[in-house]
Amino acid sequence: MKMKKIKINTKDSKYNIYIGKNIINNIPNILKKEKIYFKKCFLVIDSNIGKKNSNFVKSKFKKYDNIIYNYKSSEKNKSFEYVNDILNKLLHNNFSRNDCVISIGGGITGDLVGFVSSIYKRGIKFINIPTTLLSQVDASVGGKTGINHKIYGKNLVGTFYQPNLVISDILFLDTLSKKEIICGYAEILKHSLISSRENFNFLNKNFDKILSLNEPFITKAIFESCIVKKKIVQRDVKEKNLRKILNLGHTFGHAYEATCGFKKKLNHGEGVILGIKTALKFSLQRKLINIKTYSKILNHVKNLNFGLNLRNFFKIKDINKLIYYMKNDKKNNSKMINLILLKDIGNPILDNLYSESDLKKFFKRELLNI
Ligand SMILES: NC(=O)c1ccc[n+]([C@@H]2O[C@H](COP(=O)([O-])OP(=O)(O)OC[C@H]3O[C@@H](n4cnc5c(N)ncnc54)[C@H](O)[C@@H]3O)[C@@H](O)[C@H]2O)c1
Repeated sequence: MKMKKIKINTKDSKYNIYIGKNIINNIPNILKKEKIYFKKCFLVIDSNIGKKNSNFVKSKFKKYDNIIYNYKSSEKNKSFEYVNDILNKLLHNNFSRNDCVISIGGGITGDLVGFVSSIYKRGIKFINIPTTLLSQVDASVGGKTGINHKIYGKNLVGTFYQPNLVISDILFLDTLSKKEIICGYAEILKHSLISSRENFNFLNKNFDKILSLNEPFITKAIFESCIVKKKIVQRDVKEKNLRKILNLGHTFGHAYEATCGFKKKLNHGEGVILGIKTALKFSLQRKLINIKTYSKILNHVKNLNFGLNLRNFFKIKDINKLIYYMKNDKKNNSKMINLILLKDIGNPILDNLYSESDLKKFFKRELLNI
């Protein structure tokens, strides 16, 4: 069993991420090596990971006094109600700060359980076992936790809280749908574009093997992707500036998802891929990126065969709605629209401010194909 390790070192905490296939088997050794000791643990398990995987994980924590909490993951359930319910159970069972809370699930479960861990008695031990490709390459790195607000929206309540350990086992990915794999790949692609030609060329050469979850390609793709995010979050833990480059494709992407009403028609990852394509086209029109590099990246996206084209999803009448969502992006704090654009592979540019009318003209040209 090959296992890769990434050390995360922020000002306030240090922890490791382990990546590999079947490494769940190795949990007792990893805990010993990491000097993570506890008597009791509270396992929050996403009910969609499947019975076999769920039983497998449970068996690894059998020797501890443990409580299992089955969680049905959805944005609706990433809520105060579930935070409260888990807090009640931890209190009822007398969990102390030396005990441990463990999340086994995708980004929703990890964000919710990380949040609970950060506020329970001002912080209890927290282990994250991400089970989706997106959560392995993105949500489990960087220490952002949070829940949605029922009225005001997504991820508006949260904390920065680093886990004690992350275990990313490729084994879980076998049960993911193609849409969920695309979601993860969108972030892997984004990480390659903001980091280096080497990372992008690796994807360009091996994307079919990565999407089929073949080893060693999938482990390498996850590993390299986490390294990119690690380097950025270590320099900017609290999202003050540099961390914004992680938004490449996301300002457009969120507006696409929102305009489609967050329906199955266009999921988050598909929105991000479309968003990356749009950010590239915008960069080309503004003469920031050269045509050769633009075409290279676009060909890669075409070869992925996800069939994502702006004109298949939006019409001229949607432009105002798209701009409304871009202006109201929670990461946008000016009247102008702030875009992350690309000068070259590995060379993103922060803080490009454009007006509503710039964006309107752009979308019009794109949607009319002129
Ligand atoms: N904290 C961060 O830095 C960060 C970064 C990116 C995204 N996020 C958050 O992460 C969430 C998205 O993450 P996600 O895409 O993992 O969503 P998710 O947790 O909803 O998982 C997607 C779907 O896959 C299911 N699932 C999970 N593991 C599975 C498995 N092994 N096999 C089959 N099905 C499985 C889930 O039940 C769910 O239906 C969003 O809420 C987003 O806000 C957080």
